[in-house]
Amino acid sequence: MASQKTSKEEITFSAEVYGAEPEFVGREVSVFDTTLRDGEQTPGVSLTIGEKFIIARQLEKLGVDVIEAGFPRSSPGEKQTVKKIANAGLDPQVCGLARVLKPDIDACVDADVDMVHIFVSTSDIQRLYTIKKSREEVLEMAVDAVHYVKEHGLRCMFSAMDATRTDLEYLVKVYTAVEEAGADIINVPDTVGIMTPARMRRLIEAIVERVSIPVDVHCHNDFGLAVANTLAAFEAGASEVQVTINGLGERGGNADLAETVMSLHCLYGAKTNIRTQFLVETARLVERHTGIPICPTRPVVGDNAFAHESGIHTAGVIERSDTFEPGVMTPEMVGHVRRIVVGKHAGRHAVNKALVEAGYFPDDSQLTEIMSRIKELGDKGKRITDADLFAIADSVIGAGEEEERVVDLKEVTVMTGNLITPTAVVKAVVGGIERTKSDTGVGPVDAAVKAVQSMIGEETNIKIHDFRIEAITGGSDALADVIIGVEDENGHIVSARAAREDIVMASVDALVSALNRLLKKQA
Ligand code: KIV
Ligand code: ZN
Repeated sequence: MASQKTSKEEITFSAEVYGAEPEFVGREVSVFDTTLRDGEQTPGVSLTIGEKFIIARQLEKLGVDVIEAGFPRSSPGEKQTVKKIANAGLDPQVCGLARVLKPDIDACVDADVDMVHIFVSTSDIQRLYTIKKSREEVLEMAVDAVHYVKEHGLRCMFSAMDATRTDLEYLVKVYTAVEEAGADIINVPDTVGIMTPARMRRLIEAIVERVSIPVDVHCHNDFGLAVANTLAAFEAGASEVQVTINGLGERGGNADLAETVMSLHCLYGAKTNIRTQFLVETARLVERHTGIPICPTRPVVGDNAFAHESGIHTAGVIERSDTFEPGVMTPEMVGHVRRIVVGKHAGRHAVNKALVEAGYFPDDSQLTEIMSRIKELGDKGKRITDADLFAIADSVIGAGEEEERVVDLKEVTVMTGNLITPTAVVKAVVGGIERTKSDTGVGPVDAAVKAVQSMIGEETNIKIHDFRIEAITGGSDALADVIIGVEDENGHIVSARAAREDIVMASVDALVSALNRLLKKQA
């Protein structure tokens, strides 16, 4: 780590600086994506053939090594989908899932896959309660299935389902038997996600010691440890990782591709073929097609992955992004953007920066007013978006332009309901004289606008030329952005806008602002 004497320029971060062990740096890891198979088993997800094809193309763009396209025996439609993907001439190898049964393997062969992923339960619990076979029977079925796949000249991956709850001696016996039978790679599934990183490391070490073909891992996320366990398997010698986009999969899902790959690259200095700049694009595409939303706090691809709000953090990040980011992973690397979020924790510096970047140049007092409106909204529990900020800035900076206001609004009162005619009373100082006017309308906004119009009736006759109210954010507490255009008898038109939580106040503010501009123009 950087010493206290290090100069600012010399502080840089890398996997090595963070302590990556030399044996992991530069190690190549293959990425087996099972979004279209285990990912599609996510409760509530069902993809059409077209959607699966779009995702497969995106996975090719992303650079995965293997696409597990589906389980062809499960339905004719699934077989057709896998076949379409297998025949699309994609760069990654296309794999189909099969039980250790000839008809399942035949379905994969018919689907023209490059590789068959065969699996059978090896743990006592699954063996006795699901497939109801003895250990010997399972071993024989596994070996026969490998032979059958290899007779068809296809690559064969063998999975001992529920490997992590299987007696170790028996597990190793199965793996060595399938290796002898010609399997190309074995997979170690943590089917119900019960491993810890330390246990996973020990298990993979024991397997790697006795099996010579490559080892792949498939970790479920029941305790939120899928990525950690996958990385532990990598440390212990696994050379392939099974992952899904957005961590989709049965129950708590599988190890997330983006998190696993970025950890491998940035924290271990390992290599994969993933083009990381497409990670966010891919995550969002899968989100759209599966309908499973990406949580904002999801690492790497979530909306907040590179978002900063608190004053201390934003001030640091504006100075140098790695003050409050990992440094080894930037938004550009994953196709994301850094955001300074203007919320109630935001500092003056960050707000000013966001405004200047958007072309607003508030003076000191305007910035103070903008800050106080932001904090006021934040204290009311409102999330402030960029659009909110700019609407507030428009309103504050716009108001500031009219230093000599002819109409200075003092009070607005409205009464409305189903039993009364909406009525508004407006008090303002017009040309130095206080006036109070009231009027009625079809609603409170109409009443207030009419009251303001009658207030300046002596100075000028105006008609409303344009009136638009936009809810900038969703929810009943949304900011209302009112854009108003007014026209005088001589055809002069001016417009103004104002944003407030209160729709009547926003309308009156916008109208008064437009009037001031119009009167100034007339003068
Ligand atoms: O979780 C699991 O065990 C699986 C197998 C089919 C590999 O998905
Ligand atoms: Zn699984």
